[in-house]
Amino acid sequence: MKRKKQAEGMKRREFFQRSFTIAAGTMIMGSGTSTLFGATYSRRSGTSIDTVTLNNGIKMPILGFGTLYLNDELGVRCVADAISLGYRLIDTATVYGNEESVGAGIKKSGINREELFVTSKLWVDDSGYENAKKAFQTSLDKLGLDYLNLYLIHRPRGDVKGSWRAMEDLYKEGKIRAIGVSNFEDNHLDELMSYSNIKPAVNQIETHAFFQQQKAKEGLQKYGIQMEAWSPLAQGRNGHFTNETLAAVGKKYNKTNAQVSLRWHYQRGIVAIPRSSQKAHMVENLNVFDFELDESDMKKISSLDLNITQFPEWE
Ligand SMILES: NC(=O)c1ccc[n+]([C@@H]2O[C@H](COP(=O)([O-])OP(=O)(O)OC[C@H]3O[C@@H](n4cnc5c(N)ncnc54)[C@H](OP(=O)(O)O)[C@@H]3O)[C@@H](O)[C@H]2O)c1
Repeated sequence: MKRKKQAEGMKRREFFQRSFTIAAGTMIMGSGTSTLFGATYSRRSGTSIDTVTLNNGIKMPILGFGTLYLNDELGVRCVADAISLGYRLIDTATVYGNEESVGAGIKKSGINREELFVTSKLWVDDSGYENAKKAFQTSLDKLGLDYLNLYLIHRPRGDVKGSWRAMEDLYKEGKIRAIGVSNFEDNHLDELMSYSNIKPAVNQIETHAFFQQQKAKEGLQKYGIQMEAWSPLAQGRNGHFTNETLAAVGKKYNKTNAQVSLRWHYQRGIVAIPRSSQKAHMVENLNVFDFELDESDMKKISSLDLNITQFPEWE
């Protein structure tokens, strides 16, 4: 009996050693650093969400809350609700037009600033050294914060070199804990690497069951850049929430399609930032740390890859 359990343990270890690329773990309450299945992961005190360690040593929650389309009062309420439920990473952007609402939601939650990991993004119209510095300060003011945990160049357009220099300076001044990019492809990253003094810590790209970005994932791993998934639930497109393959996998663990997808991101070592306007969904999306997809589940989900964007209108 004991030997059978040990053999099962070995299989699980091998699986996790293969599939975990960065830090990852499972639902264990408490705080500190642990090693599981050969992977080191950390749990910040006061939260039950694991963190990944970025290439500058900063810790980032592996699961966070997206705020696209959550504007005005809705944004305030959703951000406050999300924080009260345990989310600590909040993702916004200048172009979402909701930084004031996000800031008000943070304030309403009453949480200590140090507990949070707040991301915003520099929009393309604000590219270039001086513009980027100004836009960053405007974002801070709107959010009512005096630093950001992560600031990203939203899209590789305009004067990226000038923007990056501004972000490097803001980082050195301590106004941003980590700097990164979004929607950068290999060629954009290669170019950025050719002149940057500080390597991007994160690349936030479209990633979900129908656009799995395996090649990009491998490239980012090589560069030591953390991958972050936007639209991790594909915004429900292509029938995500009724997909039969995800449902069949979920049935084994009594989990929904959303939970299967979010667990899949987690087991790939990818930070995911699902958005929801409903408290029940926010809770559901957090409850992904009490089960494990096995190798056959991971393979079934791999087979859903269409390897094409589900957001052609944003190209
Ligand atoms: N960098 C970029 O260019 C970029 C682009 C797009 C998005 N983003 C970021 O990524 C975040 C997430 O992406 P997203 O907002 O596009 O889409 P998403 O998180 O993939 O999906 C959000 C949609 O899924 C629904 N949903 C959430 N949880 C659910 C659940 N458990 N069951 C059923 N439906 C559920 C939500 O509806 P309900 O409100 O009804 O729950 C909402 O309609 C954004 O909010 C934003 O912060 C970044």
